[in-house]
Amino acid sequence: MITLKTLAYDFNALEPFIDAKTVEIHHTKHHQWYVDKLNWLIAGTEFENMNLENIIINSNGAIFNNAAQVWNHTFYREGMNWQAENEKWDFTYRQAKVKDQIEKKRGSFENFKTEFTNNAIWNFGSGWTWLVKDGNGELSIVNTSNAENPMTSGLIPLLTVDVWEHAYYLKYQNRRAEYLENWRSLVNWEKVEELYKN
Ligand SMILES: [Fe+2]
Repeated sequence: MITLKTLAYDFNALEPFIDAKTVEIHHTKHHQWYVDKLNWLIAGTEFENMNLENIIINSNGAIFNNAAQVWNHTFYREGMNWQAENEKWDFTYRQAKVKDQIEKKRGSFENFKTEFTNNAIWNFGSGWTWLVKDGNGELSIVNTSNAENPMTSGLIPLLTVDVWEHAYYLKYQNRRAEYLENWRSLVNWEKVEELYKN
């Protein structure tokens, strides 16, 4: 039985970057629906007693899609810091070891931001844009479509942004770039750093 992890913050905690209604619907409708559908699909199957990561690695089709969407949404949510403000975010980032890697590979954090945002803007249709680490600690930015998750390619996710329209349409309509610009102000770099160092 897979359960939906409780939201660690109030629906309005990500204002003004992400509006309360979007957070509420995303959590209580979209995310909950993936959980409910997954439980329905795995009942009585070999996946019934597996943890979520093992279901993702070992399944395909509808079970994979729903399992990965449960995982991806939790990861996206936990990659945002509800207390973040631009200054705190910059400060936290300046302390991070992952910063050295990002700047080593991309020259500057500005270049990284531009590359990440451009990837997310050009991620066609519904999907996710990720910062990932490979087995050698090298960082990459990757796009996935629909529910796909880079774990299935042996990569370690450090950060993701949801670019399905339901993640931003209420507030931003078709303005995905504006949503991405604002989402960046919420990035929980402490979490990214923790994952990078593990
Ligand atoms: Fe979503």
